[in-house]
Amino acid sequence: MSSSRATWWQSAVVYQIYPRSFCDANGDGIGDLPGILARLDYLRHLGVDVLWLSPMFPSPQDDAGYDISNYTDVDPVFGSLADFDLLLAEVHRRGMKLVLDLVVNHTSDEHPWFEASRRGRHDPQRDWYWWRGPRAGMAAGAPGAEPTNWASAFSGSAWQFDEASGEYYLHLFSRKQPDLNWENPQVRSAVYRMMRWWLDRGVDGFRMDVINMISKDPRLPDGIVGSVGSSGFGDGSPFYICGPRIHEFLQEMYAQVFAGRDAQLLTVGEMPGVTVEQARLFTDPDRHEVDMVFQFEHVQIDHGIDKFHPTAFRLVDLKASFGRWQAGLAEVGWNSLYWNNHDQPRVVSRFGDDSDRYRVRSATLLGTVLHLHRGTPYVYQGEELGMTNGVFGSIADFRDIESLNYYAAALAGEGSGAPQPGDPLADETAGGTAVTAAGPGRQPDDSTVLAALRRMSRDNARTPMQWTAGPHAGFSSAEPWIGVNPNHRTVNAEAEYADPDSVYSHYRRLIALRHSHPVVARGSFTMLLPDHEQVYAFLRQLDAEQWLVLGNFSAADVAVPLPDAADWASAELLLGNYPTGEAIGSPPDAPAPARSAELWLRAWECRVYRRTAPPA
Ligand code: NOJ
Repeated sequence: MSSSRATWWQSAVVYQIYPRSFCDANGDGIGDLPGILARLDYLRHLGVDVLWLSPMFPSPQDDAGYDISNYTDVDPVFGSLADFDLLLAEVHRRGMKLVLDLVVNHTSDEHPWFEASRRGRHDPQRDWYWWRGPRAGMAAGAPGAEPTNWASAFSGSAWQFDEASGEYYLHLFSRKQPDLNWENPQVRSAVYRMMRWWLDRGVDGFRMDVINMISKDPRLPDGIVGSVGSSGFGDGSPFYICGPRIHEFLQEMYAQVFAGRDAQLLTVGEMPGVTVEQARLFTDPDRHEVDMVFQFEHVQIDHGIDKFHPTAFRLVDLKASFGRWQAGLAEVGWNSLYWNNHDQPRVVSRFGDDSDRYRVRSATLLGTVLHLHRGTPYVYQGEELGMTNGVFGSIADFRDIESLNYYAAALAGEGSGAPQPGDPLADETAGGTAVTAAGPGRQPDDSTVLAALRRMSRDNARTPMQWTAGPHAGFSSAEPWIGVNPNHRTVNAEAEYADPDSVYSHYRRLIALRHSHPVVARGSFTMLLPDHEQVYAFLRQLDAEQWLVLGNFSAADVAVPLPDAADWASAELLLGNYPTGEAIGSPPDAPAPARSAELWLRAWECRVYRRTAPPA
């Protein structure tokens, strides 16, 4: 295993803050920078090294801040630039780093660049965005006259018609998020200038929003129809995911923004649809692109035709995916490791068991399995408490544009909400709520669509951070912008902070393990038992030190059928999620074949063993 080129972020843990939902200091129901400042000691105590802030820049908040109208200021709802400077200084004073969200695939339509661009076909900034006339032979604005058949990620066409000029602009996300044209060198220099401005101010790097979408095939071809969930739309992604100039642009960015700075910086590119092979190129240190990428394979493992048509989770699929990524980036490149962020449902509700009985066990198991892979782990706010999916009564409780647009389209019988041939809309139960099938010829009803949203909506991640059992979970003194989860009475930071058996304390231990044992950051990774349907098992090894990580992804006791199970059972137990005093062994009433196994795991149990590697 090559352990050369160790860099600081290999043994670091990053914590993502979604400012809107983290802590509200000024009592307006929305989180803010002074709120974050007030909680820095909590984060320091948890042990994380880097904080990543989701966007806090001025924004119309159409997509909760991922639609930026000014890159070099702070939205008044979150505070001021002075608040930011103070926050940054206090983060640094505590020995942590601060990374900003860089959202430059698109701006807000209220950004001055776009306001100039839409002034008319001859404006000097027209070409800063993707403008096109109607489809050949069709009248501008007529149904179906959009320049391509691409769908927006938030339902409907990716093109918005502009009456004044008779042209359309491209928006891969909301119509208030027009895509920047990175073919134009002026756009690129303006972005690099802005990035240098923040680095000069002291920030420690960037998480780069959908950065693998900045290079588009300038011919903008139609996509194949039928390969994406949205009926009628084509799949444009081959023409904007990892497009022809993506590596050139990232290398240019590196040269213009990062090269020559001696600070310890971090860059992580969010890259939907990236393959292992591409990720290896993006993260090869010799190529000077980004330090690591967020890939999406494991968070799409339970998607059907799209995320709102989920399928049953299968552990073997998850292991196959992670196993490939671990192997693919073993020698060159680096993984980021995450279960959660502001776009994903809560992992304990998704791949674990969020019932009162198993929430703590399954949340600690999930954390353990993830953090002990090779890569840099990311903790999303509240994950360290075992926060669960939200409770949403009706559509009025949702806030996220993706969810609201999907709901409207589905009930109108449009897009992927419309019945599809062989629609898997669902074949299973979601959190106790049946997701019923919308068979051919039927329109999904309100309850079907709501069941899908309750399970997969991004709002699940965005409910307020649960600080206390008190009013509004201690997040705010006012009614929060989105409903608090009623389980804050038991699931909250105050209750967990000093409890050695809490999810929080377990995450602290995990983070400390990474800091104190080089095998976690730099050791090799070997997946074991890839076909086992309940047990997640892998080895880590550095020099003569070998670790075995085990997790039982079920509520049923299970034997771990490793050939050297007996040896492992007598190895040093470094970490587990059951009280250490409790006997570990085969249940007396176990069936005969299982009884012969030497290693057993109880419901949602995880264990980490250490031994000296036997001679090869
Ligand atoms: C990815 C971000 O994580 C998500 O929240 C956002 O909606 C899109 N990019 C568009 O910026």
